[in-house]
Amino acid sequence: MLGIDVGGTSIKAGLLSLDGEVIGRTRIPTGELTSTAAFGEVTEGLDQLVVSAGHTGSDVVAMGLDVPGPVDDTGKVGFFPNVALDSEGMRNALQEAFPGSQLAFVNDANAAALGELWKGTAKGISSFVMITLGTGVGGGVVIGGRLVSGAFGAGGEIGHITVQPEGEQRTCGCGRHGCLEQYASAKGLVWLYRRECKRSDAVPAHIVHETDTISVFRALQEGDECADIAVDVMCDRLGFALAQISATIDPAAYLVGGGVAGAFDLFSTRLAAAYRSHCLSTSADARILPCSLGNDAGMYGAAYAGLTQAGLL
Ligand code: BGC
Ligand code: NA
Ligand code: ZN
Repeated sequence: MLGIDVGGTSIKAGLLSLDGEVIGRTRIPTGELTSTAAFGEVTEGLDQLVVSAGHTGSDVVAMGLDVPGPVDDTGKVGFFPNVALDSEGMRNALQEAFPGSQLAFVNDANAAALGELWKGTAKGISSFVMITLGTGVGGGVVIGGRLVSGAFGAGGEIGHITVQPEGEQRTCGCGRHGCLEQYASAKGLVWLYRRECKRSDAVPAHIVHETDTISVFRALQEGDECADIAVDVMCDRLGFALAQISATIDPAAYLVGGGVAGAFDLFSTRLAAAYRSHCLSTSADARILPCSLGNDAGMYGAAYAGLTQAGLL
């Protein structure tokens, strides 16, 4: 089966056996995924992956495709804040390329939650919330071992919880203001850092691109005060959002994934402190854990969704 994870700049796909072992993997760089030509490049890449592992297309019994926007139970997408993607066209192209295969279609952070539940940190944790910090901020809610995607597909759209109703604002990809995504995504953290440097007339560390959180964390380790404040603000707003979630569903654990979570050790203590400063005393013991599949969580979870839909799990 195939797990296909659509990100901002590339697609990560894995060919997995039915028990979830990765047989092969590929990364297909993408621009805008809105044309037949672009879909063709993707299906060609997937076909190569299958063939180079000694299989044929008809061996692919199930596929899972995850995308960075809310998806409801009928497969309707609410919006894509950070990518240009014709998901309908993409799904049709996949279905044409692998006609015998069941295709599950899910939100990327929901997929990450399923991946961690199946193969990662969340194994055996029946109620948890996955948070992915990357190009966007995503969430996946699992209660009693089941994913909760909501009546309209927006269950777990944590990145768009309002965490800053006032103050300096940027418009979010959802069209609103004050969303968590503007404070805890890769771009959000870099923006916070630059804002702090400007405020205090400090010379910012060398930032390679607008999502370069590695440089911000490096500056933090070197004792840069602006980086210190930026990471504090990010953790405070994220901790605030988690506290709102606790008062709603009270999960046992929060799992942090996505690219920014590569630096988990550099901010986890602050995040836990921020969470505790905002949550009810009742929920102070909720654990905040790093996810264990890293950037593969979505790919595993998409495959898992495909397997489930095909009735193979
Ligand atoms: C989207 C979510 C997605 C997240 C991570 C957010 O902007 O609204 O659906 O899961 O980004 O890609
Ligand atoms: Na989600
Ligand atoms: Zn938003």
